[in-house]
Amino acid sequence: MLLLAQIAPFAQGGNRLCFVHPNDPLRCIKVRRPDFSLADRRRKKGFPKNLRPLSSFDDNLEELRVMADLDSSVGEHLYQHVSHCYGFVTTDMGPGLVSELIRNDDGSIAETLKKYIWDHGFTEDCQLAVSSLCDHWRAQRIPSRDLLLHNIVTQMAGSSIVRLVVIDGLGSPSLVPFRWLPLAMRSKRIERKIANLYQRIHSLLSQRGQEKFPGYHGLLLHNDRPEIPFAEAVK
Ligand SMILES: Nc1ncnc2c1ncn2[C@@H]1O[C@H](COP(=O)(O)OP(=O)(O)O)[C@@H](O)[C@H]1O
Ligand SMILES: [Mg+2]
Repeated sequence: MLLLAQIAPFAQGGNRLCFVHPNDPLRCIKVRRPDFSLADRRRKKGFPKNLRPLSSFDDNLEELRVMADLDSSVGEHLYQHVSHCYGFVTTDMGPGLVSELIRNDDGSIAETLKKYIWDHGFTEDCQLAVSSLCDHWRAQRIPSRDLLLHNIVTQMAGSSIVRLVVIDGLGSPSLVPFRWLPLAMRSKRIERKIANLYQRIHSLLSQRGQEKFPGYHGLLLHNDRPEIPFAEAVK
């Protein structure tokens, strides 16, 4: 069993805590936040969603299912802009989902797109990176929920963005599997997600004058810097 409870998580989202894998600096482990149980999450949803079984509120289970599905439908191209998923391990904080940890060329953990835009604005470099993510989303028709700025990380080489990587929020929320939908409907959905991503970017840009980083998500809790060779960190 892997021991995480004594380690500081490097980030947290609305549902999960993220730890650097104790035995592999290029992987992370996501566990449920102990302060926000599945039962709490179900209660928060209200009627009729709260009638669903508890397991349907488990992001880790859902992510593993979605990633296996996308791996077989999209194939290797998926990982140009999506982190690899390696399945479950047992930890002292419950089942942990292991994923590829996205690091920059200096070994530090990649920050979110939200943090990048907050710090630097929508630079030309960032515009190009967002546009190649969107082209990829269109070409591969990758189903996702809304592309949130704290669910995308910026992998950097020096001060340039190497690529954007989506680390959460994949899959289709509807009951009908995305790939069963007619092509025109799939394309329309993808375009809606892309338009929504640009809206979020513009809304964040309009908040940049404020003193405080907006919202609760999108900042790292710490950023360790182990010595990892460039080729390994960006492969
Ligand atoms: N594979 C990853 N590589 C780098 N950072 C990550 C990775 N996965 C998650 N993170 C960081 O952890 C935060 C929370 O992770 P996330 O999977 O979005 O949790 P939640 O399901 O609770 O929203 C992200 O906003 C990001 O900063
Ligand atoms: Mg998230």
